[in-house]
Amino acid sequence: EPQVITDKDQMRKWSRAMRSQGKTIALVPTMGYLHQGHLSLVKEAHKHAHVVAVSIYVNPSQFSPNEDLSTYPSDFHGDIQKLVSVPGGVDVVFHPYNLYDYGNGAKENVGDVGDGDDGVVSCIENSGLGHETWVRVQNLEKGLCGLSRPVFFRGVATIVTKLFNIVEPDVVVFGKKDYQQWRIIQRMVRDLDFSIEVIGSEVVRDSDGLAMSSRNVHLSPEEREKALSINKSLLRAKSAAEDGQVDCEKLRNLVIQCIAEAGGKIDYAEIVDQESLEKVEIIKNPVVFCIAALFGKVRLIDNMEMKL
Ligand code: PAJ
Repeated sequence: EPQVITDKDQMRKWSRAMRSQGKTIALVPTMGYLHQGHLSLVKEAHKHAHVVAVSIYVNPSQFSPNEDLSTYPSDFHGDIQKLVSVPGGVDVVFHPYNLYDYGNGAKENVGDVGDGDDGVVSCIENSGLGHETWVRVQNLEKGLCGLSRPVFFRGVATIVTKLFNIVEPDVVVFGKKDYQQWRIIQRMVRDLDFSIEVIGSEVVRDSDGLAMSSRNVHLSPEEREKALSINKSLLRAKSAAEDGQVDCEKLRNLVIQCIAEAGGKIDYAEIVDQESLEKVEIIKNPVVFCIAALFGKVRLIDNMEMKL
């Protein structure tokens, strides 16, 4: 079984001890309720470093007050068993209780952080724990998931920065399932000169094609069946593109229609440049087709990289 560390100073001590033994450290950040998608990141991590750390922490600052923080699934003991089952296992699990408690007893509300919040204050600000420093990746965070989740990427970039500073990894592994998140972290690492290599790992799907997600447990069997329209239509768009369809409007309509017919409520369906995440009208360079859609109350995201 891996060592479980809950204290951030202990965590940093562990990493420094590893480094002093000449070992390189990979970190896989997660919010737990692990599935094969997460485990594939652990396998990838083993290829790039001597020791592997997995963090399990449901980060409140990336949830808006109206989102599913309180119902986010968890199963810590199950997670440990799954991590043990991966070839090579993991060396340490970092499982902090609260990374925003600075023990200063601060109770004041730090309020709005400025542009792009649309009046939404995150749970952290409501909790009055006195955290007021945020990392923002200004342009990449704007579109796609950033539109309907205004504090999401700010919360992600900030907690990931905190985890980088606590764990001090050489390599980190992120899933391309959350494509925008992966690009944002890559950019943040470059812009802020973190001495960390960011690896993007392929999307893992169930045998029926549904991208694995901790939130899939909330889908009823009927909703799950309908949700297959996401991957099916993305595959159709991909093969249409490979057959020479470069018109993104046409490709988007194909996907939007298929998901709508299945009863999904589309949040966005955009074809964007793989690097800049800017919308594309005619495919010339490599693009990624990104989708977010609701089935019942469950919001799912998926994407497909496409080139001609
Ligand atoms: P979480 O949703 O738990 O995902 C943790 C990591 O697993 C992310 O890098 C995500 O992209 C990857 N992942 C999830 N499903 C996957 C799949 N089907 N195939 C491949 N990779 C998959 O993403 C987060 O947590 C949080 O935002 C976090 C980065 C931990 C910050 O709080």
